[in-house]
Amino acid sequence: MTVVTQADELTAALAEHGRPRVLVPTMGALHDGHLALIRRAKDLAGTNGTVVVSIFVNPIQFDRPADLAGYPRPLAADLAACEAAGVALVFVPEAGAMYFPDRSVTVTESQLSRTLCGASRPGHFDGVCTVVLKLFLLCGCEMAVFGEKDFQQLAVIRRMVRDLNVPVTLIAQPTVREADGLAMSSRNVRLSAAQRADAPRLRQALLAAQAGFQAGTHTPAELLATARQAIEASALARIDYLSLVDADSLETVPHVVRPAVLAAAVFYGEVRLIDHVGIAP
Ligand code: PAJ
Repeated sequence: MTVVTQADELTAALAEHGRPRVLVPTMGALHDGHLALIRRAKDLAGTNGTVVVSIFVNPIQFDRPADLAGYPRPLAADLAACEAAGVALVFVPEAGAMYFPDRSVTVTESQLSRTLCGASRPGHFDGVCTVVLKLFLLCGCEMAVFGEKDFQQLAVIRRMVRDLNVPVTLIAQPTVREADGLAMSSRNVRLSAAQRADAPRLRQALLAAQAGFQAGTHTPAELLATARQAIEASALARIDYLSLVDADSLETVPHVVRPAVLAAAVFYGEVRLIDHVGIAP
């Protein structure tokens, strides 16, 4: 496995490896969710191709300085996990290797980013789009694998690829969960024992609303109230947003007449967790 920290080193290392190139962009603190993406990338790369994992805690997508400062960075363990997973190339740039001090070009998605995480984290998806496009260009990859867990991120990146004719095929991988249903996240390690024990509540609340929908509770207000009550029953959890949106436009819907998504972000102290369920009429 080759580990590089500079763009020119990456270019040189890539020249030694075959195609297709399949990129798995991450911010590190790798867990089984990331490893599922890497396994998928290995399948897609086949015997001649190359899996590239990037590990970069992208400063320009963080809206809260404390979240950036507290983001876990267990690099040695991450590199060991990549090695064990059979990754050929790991790109671990320093912030200075990714951004010029006077950088002045940013990719903005202005439609799908208006709700959910885009609304509660100003500038977040500009930061994501900008770094993902840079990583695509630096790697010259044919394919890239993303998790469905961050479904708005996936939708925004799909839109960027469509609107800017980016020659990369996006592959979506289902959410990997802990045994108790909590979606795996690099931020889970920052939960206290009590918060961690309570955190599956988020998934359970969304599933309760989904079950209510299937049992005939069809107004968004009722669905949202079901989920809200289940989350707010805990003194530890604080809702950042809880929204029912159209599955394609991500706009808030007054009625469920097309596939929708019930999505939530919940704070446990400083730690913000997200999850969603599909609501299909
Ligand atoms: P990060 O949170 O490290 O996630 C990297 C990739 O892993 C994303 O595509 C994310 O959706 C996926 N992922 C995270 N948890 C998952 C889970 N439990 N199951 C399945 N997939 C999961 O998302 C980012 O980093 C960044 O925004 C990035 C795209 C790297 C740009 O900086």
